[in-house]
Amino acid sequence: MAKFIERVFSGVQPTGNLHLGNYLGAIVKFVELQSTHDCLYCVVDLHAITVPQKPEELRANIREVTAAYVAAGIDPKQHIVFNQSQVAEHAELAWVFNCVARVGWLSRMTQFKEKAGKDKENASVGLYAYPCLMAADILLYRATHVPVGEDQKQHLELARDIAQKFNLDFAESIAAHGHGDAFFPSPEPLIQGPATRVMSLRDGSKKMSKSDPSDYSRINLSDDADTIAQKIRKAKTDPEALPSEPAGLAHRPEADNLVGIYAALNGETKPEVLRAFGGGNFSAFKSALVDLSVAKLGPIGAEMKRLKDDVSYIDAVLADGAYRAKTIARENMAAVKDILGFVR
Ligand code: TYM
Repeated sequence: MAKFIERVFSGVQPTGNLHLGNYLGAIVKFVELQSTHDCLYCVVDLHAITVPQKPEELRANIREVTAAYVAAGIDPKQHIVFNQSQVAEHAELAWVFNCVARVGWLSRMTQFKEKAGKDKENASVGLYAYPCLMAADILLYRATHVPVGEDQKQHLELARDIAQKFNLDFAESIAAHGHGDAFFPSPEPLIQGPATRVMSLRDGSKKMSKSDPSDYSRINLSDDADTIAQKIRKAKTDPEALPSEPAGLAHRPEADNLVGIYAALNGETKPEVLRAFGGGNFSAFKSALVDLSVAKLGPIGAEMKRLKDDVSYIDAVLADGAYRAKTIARENMAAVKDILGFVR
């Protein structure tokens, strides 16, 4: 089997309301992986337009996600930070993958079903083909590792299926062009830790999400200390004390969620958190969670606000990132064209 250089790719949609789920499920891991891998972190604006966007808000949100990446600790000099629409090869490879993936594969995607709702006929074709674009994002750089939250697992499996089918369908041409027995790696999802699926603060059965109409359901990265404190104090809990063992969190989704958030923010495991707080009531635990959240998220939120207003800095980061991303993208796309039999 062909060997691939380890490379990390991931992305966040610029659709507003960046929240604690995005931070703990994805961005924290982006930061960690910088010390062990070459990383590309993308603001996936082509994905954002699969549902309607107001142009001025989209532009501001692209800059906000970029600011969040940098404020959280991603180094845009060492690694590549860019927005997808500046590297046209994403759309180009996505088209190729539209022709590799099968309609049946896409029909099984639960996220499409959720997002399209009852009125599937009226959803954009882009929303349906979204996972092919996501596969293109990753495979354009032949990335091997993809840090994401739990909700992206199915899309990652599809990206692996697309990579495998492409490698199989074009095996002869891939070998003839000197790429051995596979051109694309099977990208590995990195879904680890105590907060791979952060839940709503109002309802432990629902994922924390940008689109929840209740702002009290999520902690936004832009929230100030008072807002964070208020949201945590109002977070739904149950009347029982905290258990001392993780087994005691079964069927207590809200308690489980808050313990997971605490563990992730403090770089601990759930059992460690329960050893410290087990037997105590929620109000003491919530106070500790407020202090921890404000200490960890406050400085990031403040820096994010400062950076996003520095438009010339942010746009320079994106332009530089796009230039470097394009160098890799162009080379890999040229190889794909040769493999497919296009004349260039
Ligand atoms: P998006 O923009 O919805 O979310 C960005 C990242 O945040 C994670 N996430 C969560 N993690 C834990 N708990 C939550 N409640 C929560 N909500 C969101 C997501 O899993 C994701 O990692 N399709 C992707 C963007 C994308 C992408 C890619 C990711 C496009 N191309 C290529 C990786 C590689 C998405 O919509 O993420």
